[in-house]
Amino acid sequence: MNAMSASPQPDFNIRPATPEDAAVCGEICFRAFDTISRAHNFPPDFPSPDHSTGVLSMMFSHPGFYCVVAESGGRILGSNCMDERSIIGGIGPITVDPDTQNRGVGRALMQNAMDHARERGAAGVRLVQAAFHNRSLSLYASLGFEVREPLSCMQGKTAQRNVPGCSVRPAKISDVDACNELSRRVHGFDRGRELSDAIQQNTAVVVERNGRIAGYATALALFGHATAETNPDLQALIASAESFGGPGILVPSRNSALFQWCLANGLQVTQPMTLMSVGLYNEPAGAWFPNILY
Ligand SMILES: CC(C)(COP(=O)(O)OP(=O)(O)OC[C@H]1O[C@@H](n2cnc3c(N)ncnc32)[C@H](O)[C@@H]1OP(=O)(O)O)[C@@H](O)C(=O)NCCC(=O)NCCS
Repeated sequence: MNAMSASPQPDFNIRPATPEDAAVCGEICFRAFDTISRAHNFPPDFPSPDHSTGVLSMMFSHPGFYCVVAESGGRILGSNCMDERSIIGGIGPITVDPDTQNRGVGRALMQNAMDHARERGAAGVRLVQAAFHNRSLSLYASLGFEVREPLSCMQGKTAQRNVPGCSVRPAKISDVDACNELSRRVHGFDRGRELSDAIQQNTAVVVERNGRIAGYATALALFGHATAETNPDLQALIASAESFGGPGILVPSRNSALFQWCLANGLQVTQPMTLMSVGLYNEPAGAWFPNILY
């Protein structure tokens, strides 16, 4: 395949990623995020190459993920992953070796994932983008992605430790049906496979109000999403965490009541981000926050 961008254009091909590619791709992933984040004085998304390699190892071997690498003369230039556990594809992380950026490799990796989503009949594709990153914003918008939601990545421990009338407990497999039903009401689709995986990993929690499930989170972390009936239900989930995994949770900045509650409770904004989508998108009818994919 020929790259589609300005010269110099490397020749490269795109092929499925294998678990053996994880170490090289993890190193590129770490360097790509570290370089762009440091250039803008933001904390890196991945603390070390080992961490990014661990995440990519999981994705490259998980049957619910579609993962590809771009390769030139046997050298890996970058990789892309898409979570396919619901009718919406969630893209990320996509990274290109800093030495090869801005030459069309990222566009080809994105186009490949979008073509694959179309072929499998996905209702849409979404991603979360670092708002300060001009290149990724421009690339995704030119591929048809629309800006849906400004997000504030927030970290800390809330001063208020619980919400009256709401109780939070670990999620069980028997909760999945109720959580799926709630997700369909709020978003128009469910993320049950993701929730089941999170329950097995012991990161998922539910909030109960008036004796029934009013919300859930797959994790209080950058890699977790949450869906709830109301802001107080979501606040109960947020307040149950001692801290959030990774750089923080992704609070929709336009949800003023939630955002202001987080600020009043002492949470700090670590980074602005943007949710983007192509295909199906319903304005959510409830309280929610996305994970780092969507
Ligand atoms: C984001 C990333 C994957 C893109 O890959 P890439 O190979 O550098 O990107 P490409 O060269 O294919 O495409 C970049 C496009 O943005 C355009 N672009 C770059 N800066 C721009 C700007 N300031 N304004 C407008 N367009 C811009 C380029 O012209 C190009 O468009 P074209 O294909 O129409 O010429 C890569 O830069 C990367 O790994 N960045 C660090 C990690 C990261 O941020 N990943 C994304 C997480 S959301």
